[in-house]
Amino acid sequence: MRGTYTQQLLARSYLKLLRDSLCNLHYPRAETSPISPSELDRAAVVLEKVRERFGQHPCPQVQLMLKLITPEMGVGWFRRNSWQAYTLIDQVGLDNIQRCLQQVVSANVPGDLIECGVWRGGSCIFMRGLLRALGERKRQVWVADSFEGLPQPDPEQSPFDAISHEFLKEIGGLSCSQEEVRENFRRFDLLDRQVRFLPGWFSDTLKEAPIEKLALIRLDADYYESTRDALEALYPKLSVGGFIIIDDYGSAGLGARQAVDDFRRRERIAAPMRGVNENIAYWEKA
Ligand SMILES: C[S@@+](CC[C@H](N)C(=O)[O-])C[C@H]1O[C@@H](n2cnc3c(N)ncnc32)[C@H](O)[C@@H]1O
Repeated sequence: MRGTYTQQLLARSYLKLLRDSLCNLHYPRAETSPISPSELDRAAVVLEKVRERFGQHPCPQVQLMLKLITPEMGVGWFRRNSWQAYTLIDQVGLDNIQRCLQQVVSANVPGDLIECGVWRGGSCIFMRGLLRALGERKRQVWVADSFEGLPQPDPEQSPFDAISHEFLKEIGGLSCSQEEVRENFRRFDLLDRQVRFLPGWFSDTLKEAPIEKLALIRLDADYYESTRDALEALYPKLSVGGFIIIDDYGSAGLGARQAVDDFRRRERIAAPMRGVNENIAYWEKA
């Protein structure tokens, strides 16, 4: 960080306050309360539908999963994906963005920042706050989302995505409108010309987006097709020395990991994947 010692101290305090507010760490979470009977009933109904729909699926792992899922796990799914926070990722995930961006800035790696799959916008708000704290006035934060939630996944390509989708549909499919996300930026006084929105499905928006170069790409779109579309459109624009972060790389069974592994194999990317926590992994473009 640039500036005098006092300025650096203030910037650090600002970023910690921003991070903790976005993760809603200042209040106890309702999601830690005991599971209620109505939550269990709701999950049991979805589970029943999932078992009916995928009961004849030929993949043995899908059959095993159908046996192992319980209504309690369904409630966990609901709760994890409807946090009372601006982001679904935790402090460790935001710290990872901060470290990557600090390295990019100190090494003068050219390019903007993008997140594909933003939900309420929390990680993008953090990116914009970071640029401000670091005194970066030229880089843009691109905010890419359908703003109408997750797309229907292809059950042949990735049955786990399709099963997860049934549960997520029950809680609105992670849908959050562009106006809501803009309002969230405004609350932190961070909506300005360095923030650009790319509304629509990645397959329609990303290839044509007026982005020249990227220094940081964050993919958080859960599913195989979404992750593949974003990788194919954006990776060629990532500068050498820039970072690509995959939020769902560790999420058991979700298509995001398979899409990344297929892409890296096809493009012969040997840069090591580095783990951040049980979900997130990233690599630096060599
Ligand atoms: C897990 S949420 C993102 C969480 C967010 N990064 C955070 O920090 O809380 C997934 C998001 O991806 C979006 N999404 C998934 N696939 C998409 C696609 N193909 N095109 C556009 N948006 C997509 C959904 O609308 C949703 O907002």
